[in-house]
Amino acid sequence: MDVDLIKIVNKLQDTFAAIGGETVDLPQCVVVGAQSSGKSSVLETIVGKDFLPRGSGIVTRRPLVLQLVHTPPPTASSNNDRSSSSSSSSSKPTVASSLPPGTEYAEFLHLDKRFTDFADVRKEIENETFRVAGQNKGVSKLPIHLKIYSPNVLNLTLVDLPGLTKIPVGDQPSDIERQIYGLVSSYISKPNCIIIAVSPANVDLANSDSLKLARAIDPQGRRTIGVLTKLDLMDQGTHALDILTGRVYPLKLGFIGVVNRSQQDINGNVSMLSARRSEEEFFKTHPAYRNIAHRCGTKYLAKTLNSVLMNHIRDKLPDMKARLNTLMGQTQQELAAFGDTTFLGDQHRGTLILKLMTQFARDFVASIDGTTFDISTKE
Ligand code: GDP
Ligand code: NA
Ligand code: MG
Repeated sequence: MDVDLIKIVNKLQDTFAAIGGETVDLPQCVVVGAQSSGKSSVLETIVGKDFLPRGSGIVTRRPLVLQLVHTPPPTASSNNDRSSSSSSSSSKPTVASSLPPGTEYAEFLHLDKRFTDFADVRKEIENETFRVAGQNKGVSKLPIHLKIYSPNVLNLTLVDLPGLTKIPVGDQPSDIERQIYGLVSSYISKPNCIIIAVSPANVDLANSDSLKLARAIDPQGRRTIGVLTKLDLMDQGTHALDILTGRVYPLKLGFIGVVNRSQQDINGNVSMLSARRSEEEFFKTHPAYRNIAHRCGTKYLAKTLNSVLMNHIRDKLPDMKARLNTLMGQTQQELAAFGDTTFLGDQHRGTLILKLMTQFARDFVASIDGTTFDISTKE
């Protein structure tokens, strides 16, 4: 049987969010790096959408927990009768009936609204940042939760974080370095978190703040992916082939080079698609990178992330199953303590949630039992 593990985990996350508290420690990909190293740009290109505030200086001032949800492309339900009967359409996320199939949209946890214009998503992130972290460069550890539904994304949960910084500016307290270090550490310390350590290629790797922090938390480099940005900005005649082929810095998951849009590209409204094309072109034609072009770039990064995450979840399944069994046992005891729950009626919310929880946990455990997992990616 073929099971989409990440979809299961996303569902789990929703369930636990609904009943409050983080009962299962779920894997997430967290982006770390110095200010302006290109973290938000990397996330944006993985998603393939313009929606994040980015630019020189401190722009990201609250954690952004971003859940990508893969939805069926428009053609799947319209003009293809042959495959529709055999595919399990019931397990796919459904797009709101008011939106045509395949429509990309976004939702915030703090707002009851569906966004289809991603420029509005960016504005809302900015407003929410200002609302909580103030107008003047302050940083807050309170996360913004955003979900993006699209046929063009892989199922991934990504976290964008404020950049590592040393010198306080604006409203920032004198110990801003320590505070951001603490904030970033709290996300990447979770043992099943995947660290996307971003370093700009135009700065000596020995000075990379992200690699220093990643090494402190993940000394063996087991769950750290190195991402080298700004390869287009390296001095003429120099290149980073040694880093990208793992000869400089040991990381089990390796280094992937990318070229994001420059500030000039952003100002000139260069589209995501043409940015990806020129990124591809950059690697294919570059004398140092053309032989490894197939494992460079944003698309390869997204694929790598997905398969790393799949493997990771598979490794964690026995533990998650044990925890769910415990939770299920507790829930059943609590239900038993209520006596016959049918007398309580549907208005008894607590009981209803417990019931749903129990049912869900049962389904979840059943879906794991006797299942062999296919970890191949979708794209
Ligand atoms: P963050 O502060 O780490 O989130 O970095 P941003 O994503 O906000 O990027 C900071 C600035 O660097 C922006 O002006 C981006 O356009 C620019 N930038 C990011 N990545 C690249 C890249 O690969 N090449 C070039 N030329 N500019 C980049
Ligand atoms: Na920035
Ligand atoms: Mg940023």
